[in-house]
Amino acid sequence: MNMKNGLVVMVVDGGGRGSALVDKYSQSKKVKKILAVPGNDLMGINTKKPVKTYPDLKTTSVSEILELCKKEKVDLVDVAQDNGVEAGLTNVLVSNGIKAIGPTREAGQIEWDKGWAREFMKKYNLPIPEFRVFSSIDEGIRFLKNSKERAWFVKASGLAEGKGALPAQNNKEAMQRIKELQKFGKASEIYLLEEWLLGEEFSAFAISDGESFKVVGFAQDYKRVNNFDDGENTGGMGCSSPPLVLSKSKIKDQISKIFNNTFEGLRKEGRLYQGILYMGGILVNEQIKIIEFNARWGDPEAEVLIPGIKNDFVSVAEAIIFKKLKRLKIELDNKSRIAVAGCSKGYPADYSEVKGKRIFGLNKIPKDLKLYSAGIKKDGKNYLAAGGRLFYVVAEGKDVIEAREKAYGAMSQIFIEGNNLHYRTDIGYRDVERLNVKS
Ligand code: AMP
Ligand code: GLY
Repeated sequence: MNMKNGLVVMVVDGGGRGSALVDKYSQSKKVKKILAVPGNDLMGINTKKPVKTYPDLKTTSVSEILELCKKEKVDLVDVAQDNGVEAGLTNVLVSNGIKAIGPTREAGQIEWDKGWAREFMKKYNLPIPEFRVFSSIDEGIRFLKNSKERAWFVKASGLAEGKGALPAQNNKEAMQRIKELQKFGKASEIYLLEEWLLGEEFSAFAISDGESFKVVGFAQDYKRVNNFDDGENTGGMGCSSPPLVLSKSKIKDQISKIFNNTFEGLRKEGRLYQGILYMGGILVNEQIKIIEFNARWGDPEAEVLIPGIKNDFVSVAEAIIFKKLKRLKIELDNKSRIAVAGCSKGYPADYSEVKGKRIFGLNKIPKDLKLYSAGIKKDGKNYLAAGGRLFYVVAEGKDVIEAREKAYGAMSQIFIEGNNLHYRTDIGYRDVERLNVKS
C-alpha cells in the first residue's frame, strides 16, 4: 500500500457501525479523506478528515463501488456490512488490485448461510445447540410431529436483517413459526430448527489475517425494544462493554479456543478469513454455546469497542492485508463503555409518522462523548429523523455505572418534535446490578 500520508479510505456501511469506523479511520495520521458507501449525513460532522457519502449507492452495488474506487483512487476499503460480504464485494475489489479488508463471500458464508455455518461448526466440534436444517415446510412439520416436546428457535438460513430468528415455546408454535418464516422469501427457503438455549448472551470479536488472530473485545447487546428486555427484538437498542459475565479467565479461554478452532476450520476449508469475526455466544452453566457467527462488527457493539482500540486503524488493516497480525500488538484502553440507541417512536414496527420530524439537542452532547449517527438526514441546519435507529450516544468511564451516568445525562438533552424519541433507560443493567450487589 502507498505508505505515505494521504490515503483515501472507503468504509462500506451506513449505520452507527460505519460511523464508528469512519471516526476511527479519520484519527489515523495516514488518512487524507474518507468515502462512505452509502454513509449517512452526519458522518463528516466532528470528524477529523473530510468525509464524502454516497447515499444512492447500495453496499451490494459491486461494480459501481469498484468504479468509484478506481475514479477516486481509493487505497483501502473496509467492507463492514453483511450484504456487501454476501455480494462478494471483497472478492471483486481484491481481484481488481484494490486493497480491502472484510471476508470474501466464501469466508463470509459463516454468516450468510446459517445452515452451512451450523454444519461447519459441527464438523469442527465447536460447542453448539442441537439443530436440524430443512428445505421445505412439510419436512420441518413432519419432523416436529415426531419429536419430543421442547422449546425451539426457528431460523431463516439466509440474511434477514437480524429478524430471521423466531422463538417457539413448543412444537405446535414451532410449526406456526415455520410458516411465518416464509415472509423472508429466498432467505428462508432453507431454515433451521434449533434447541432453545437459556443463559446470558454476549458478543465476542476477533480479527484474523488468515494465519493468526487476535481477540479484540467483548460486549453485551440489549436487543429488545423496551426496558428489562421486554417487547420485540430489534437491531440493538444499546450495548455495554466489557460484560462482567465474562470476567473469569476460564470463560475467556473457552472463547479463544472457539476462535482458534473456527479460523483453523475455515483455513482447512480453503476459506481464508481476513477481517473481523463476531461470535454471538450464550453462557449455559459457565459453558459457552455459539448462537451464531457474523462476518462483520456488531452494531451497536462496534460503537463501544472501536473507540477503545488505541492502534492506528490503517496499521491494523495493513496487518490484516499483509498477514502480519502476529507481530501487531492490539492496544486496548480497557475503559467501560455504554452505547444508547435513540430511535423513532414505533420502531421496530411502524415509525413512518416520525419520518422528517426535527431532532433537537444533538449539539448539546459533551465533547468527551461520541455521537454516532445512523438514520438522520441533515436539512440545512436541521437534523431530521429518517429511520428507525437514528443515532447512538456513547460514553466511557471507569465502570459501567460511570459510563451510564454520562450517556443518560446526554440523552436527557435530546428530543424529537412531538415527543417522538424512544430509547431504553436501562442499558447496562445486568452489570450495574452486579456492581451494586458487590458494593
Ligand atoms: P440470530 O438471528 O441468530 O442472531 O438470533 C437472534 C437472537 O435470537 C439471538 O441474539 C438470541 O437472542 C436468539 N437466539 C437465536 N438462536 C437461539 C438459540 N438456539 N437459543 C436461544 N436463543 C437463540
Ligand atoms: N448486534 C447484533 C448484530 O450486529 O447483529
